[in-house]
Amino acid sequence: MKKQHWIFGIALSSAAILILFSLNHADSQSDLVKRGKYLVDAVSACGQCHTPRKGAEFDMSMYLAGHPTNAVYPKYDFSMMRQGIFMLTAPTLTAFSGPYGTSFAANLTPHKGTGLGEWTEKMFIDAMRTGYHQGNKTNRKILPPMPIKNAYENMRDADLKAMWAYLQTIKPVKNEVSVPLNRMGRPY
Ligand code: HEC
Repeated sequence: MKKQHWIFGIALSSAAILILFSLNHADSQSDLVKRGKYLVDAVSACGQCHTPRKGAEFDMSMYLAGHPTNAVYPKYDFSMMRQGIFMLTAPTLTAFSGPYGTSFAANLTPHKGTGLGEWTEKMFIDAMRTGYHQGNKTNRKILPPMPIKNAYENMRDADLKAMWAYLQTIKPVKNEVSVPLNRMGRPY
């Protein structure tokens, strides 16, 4: 075979390998996102707290966008303990008040400024694992009812990575969520 044929053959097979490699990579990326969606929606039910409701329905235009900025929220009073009331929730089911104060489900969309747009994968994994705000142990603890203890803290790295990959692909929604309030109704 002539030298040119050899070179042509090598170039052609390298191109084929490159194409196959990138197709395979695209495939594994979309599989990761699909698995993330399955874990977020079907297994961990993140939307039960992070997607606000409008009446009995979920407001899907606010999918995983957290407690809406101006929506009402309840305030716990210790006298309620005697009536057997331990936790209150807003009609949107995205704000919760109990003896610890009041917490507001975070905006999990990739919106920069109001969502997880400026978070890194590591911050997300560390927050889910350690239960500290943004995964930083010098920050405050993440408040109830975010199910970290005995639940998400035990998730495998691969699953948390898949959830993160999926959350990066959802529609960014601009929604500033209130900071949590302590028992006195002041910011934590
Ligand atoms: C039972 C309700 C509930 C469920 C279910 C839930 N969350 Fe939350 N989540 C909350 C609340 C409330 C907060 C706000 C807590 C705070 O401000 O301290 C929160 C906060 C967060 C935060 C911000 C943490 C931080 O560092 O400030 C992330 C990220 C998060 N949730 C991700 C998820 C993911 C992902 C899922 C599903 C795997 C999920 N949550 C399911 C209630 C929930």
